[in-house]
Amino acid sequence: MSTGAVGRAYPRLEGREKVTGTARYAVEYPVDGVTYGWAVPSAVVRGRITRVDTAEALASPGVLAVLHHGNAPRLAPGPQPEVWLLQEPAVHYRGQFVAVVVATSLEAAREGARLVRIDYDTGPHSTVLTDDHPGLYRPDHVNPSYPTDTAEGDFDAGYAAAPVRVDATYRTPAYHNNPMEPHATTAHWRDGRLLVHDSTQGASQVRATLAELFEVPPESIRVVAEHVGGGFGSKGYAKAPVVLAALAARHVDRPVRLALTRQQLFGPVGYRTPIIQRIRLAADADGRLTAICHDAISQTSTIREFAEQTAVYTRSMYAAPHRRTTHRLVRLDVPTPFWMRAPGECPGAYALESAMDELATAVGTDPVELRIRNDAQVDPDQGRPFTSRNLVACLREGAQRFGWADRDPTPRARRDGRWLIGTGVAGSSYPARARPSSATATARPDGSFLVRINATDIGTGARTAMWQVAADALGVPPERVEIRIGDSDLPTAAVAGGSMGTASWSWAVIRAGQALREKLRDLPGGTSAGEVTVEVSTDDEVGGQPTLPRYAYGAQFVEVRVDADTGEVRLNRMLGVFAAGRIVNPTTARSQLIGGMTMGLSMALHEEGLLDERYGDWVNHDLATYHITVCPDVESIEAYWLDEQDDELNPAGVKGIGEIGIVGAAAAVANAVHHATGVRIRELPIRLDKLVGLSALA
Ligand code: MOS
Repeated sequence: MSTGAVGRAYPRLEGREKVTGTARYAVEYPVDGVTYGWAVPSAVVRGRITRVDTAEALASPGVLAVLHHGNAPRLAPGPQPEVWLLQEPAVHYRGQFVAVVVATSLEAAREGARLVRIDYDTGPHSTVLTDDHPGLYRPDHVNPSYPTDTAEGDFDAGYAAAPVRVDATYRTPAYHNNPMEPHATTAHWRDGRLLVHDSTQGASQVRATLAELFEVPPESIRVVAEHVGGGFGSKGYAKAPVVLAALAARHVDRPVRLALTRQQLFGPVGYRTPIIQRIRLAADADGRLTAICHDAISQTSTIREFAEQTAVYTRSMYAAPHRRTTHRLVRLDVPTPFWMRAPGECPGAYALESAMDELATAVGTDPVELRIRNDAQVDPDQGRPFTSRNLVACLREGAQRFGWADRDPTPRARRDGRWLIGTGVAGSSYPARARPSSATATARPDGSFLVRINATDIGTGARTAMWQVAADALGVPPERVEIRIGDSDLPTAAVAGGSMGTASWSWAVIRAGQALREKLRDLPGGTSAGEVTVEVSTDDEVGGQPTLPRYAYGAQFVEVRVDADTGEVRLNRMLGVFAAGRIVNPTTARSQLIGGMTMGLSMALHEEGLLDERYGDWVNHDLATYHITVCPDVESIEAYWLDEQDDELNPAGVKGIGEIGIVGAAAAVANAVHHATGVRIRELPIRLDKLVGLSALA
């Protein structure tokens, strides 16, 4: 029976600690005898280390050790070659960490790193993605396990026969995750046991990777991630710092702290791959789609295949009898790309939702109406009805709130002084999934309860959400519940990724709460003199869930103004309406949604990893030169959601909201820029020079 904690706007449980600076992050725990590690990146793109001269570094005051492939403890090779570090002389990409200096102070470690001399033999490299790269190939599948290509009907025939066609190619650059807290670790070996405080989205997963690499039982490793300053996907697996710190700590037999610098985040911990996408749409005169084709080209590294599922969005979004999607990859001498908020869906939706806007222009139909006309209640990919799909409701509610009805569809029709004003819309969707997790619930004699689960709060409010869910599951006011998360010693749980955290963890928390109540009911008098604990796992229940098309949906609305003289694009307002199942906490949910939307704005107008082929590295690798959207760029942003009940999801009825906010946002911005100016920029970011260069706006 619900006491009604779920659905209420509680502030974050750890909010006070965070704003007063007492919440501890990975390298902020006081540790006796701690030392400092500084990672040394390779200075070449592809090659082999021929000599490491550590004499000068070791002679520098405070330096305790220099680890490199010649002297570092051995690691077992695993499925993540990016973290099999300091094991071989080979260099696979520029920025690969090839040494670590350990010293008694951070400054001494940094100075030591400057003094390490490394010689390399180098070979030619290829680091730039092109659509005619000789290395293009077809991977076996795309992430996480989707078919590489799909085809229904006869696209070529359907496309050729249609009266209206759009054929457009969209390009997006590399995007770099920039969590406030960098990837950072404190590691300590004691009596064969390893304790690490790591900035990660999944302490259980980091523990598993470390156990594999160091060939020790997982029980001898504890990974703590109590507070995490953002991740966006980049901290979804164990990354270099935790491995380097653990290696260094074993080597010097002292605790080691290692945090990457802001510059070192650009590449070695993963980034969103640059992507080239060609979309072809065909429709009848009313804009009803008859054929859709989405071809995506992205990159991976030479050491591991990472296949962004870019075109997967298109498989389920809009209906058409003739459909085709393909993915091709190129192995380049670059760091392996990795997850960044809504990998696949985010870039894929940018292309498809832009092309839908182009189609609306081509048939002279309103772009909201065009999407409504092409809605599908049966998943075109799986051929089964969606468990719930409220895209149309989001579009209608968004249009009404935004004031879309009186929009003049003519591009460049609105002007206010030197500003050209335009509005744009895009659809949005993201899969609603869950992974097995486990949890314990304890009843204490004083009437309070303790719920333990290794969930991770990467700044999302997950701790608070789980506390609310636990209270309702236990049928008590939340004030009587204590929640413990962020520690691999707690019951193993799913990673905070794929917008699956709340669905996965709440499933286990609800089952634990139910099991505890049953157990208490069975006790004589319904009470116990001591503590009563139950432990549950959702392995079987989640594993046995039928495969159904489960998705969250949204509609993104944007108004921009474009300076007719300079081409500068400014955001007037951004409004999103989402249908994402049950919303656990309106405060933290809103923050997730507007955070995603802001990141989409950033993608559309600001972010761009610029790689210099001569050096095989990104030249703008800091926040001065890699631009991101900041507060003054967001003049007005609003997120709303529909009440949505879907009983085929999970016990909490949630769909996940971490990623859907970014999906479609960049397309809505680009569509608004086109509406304002009449100029279609198909290569993000939309910088002023691209607008001015293409057309005399004034
Ligand atoms: Mo998200 S990119 O799945 O952490």
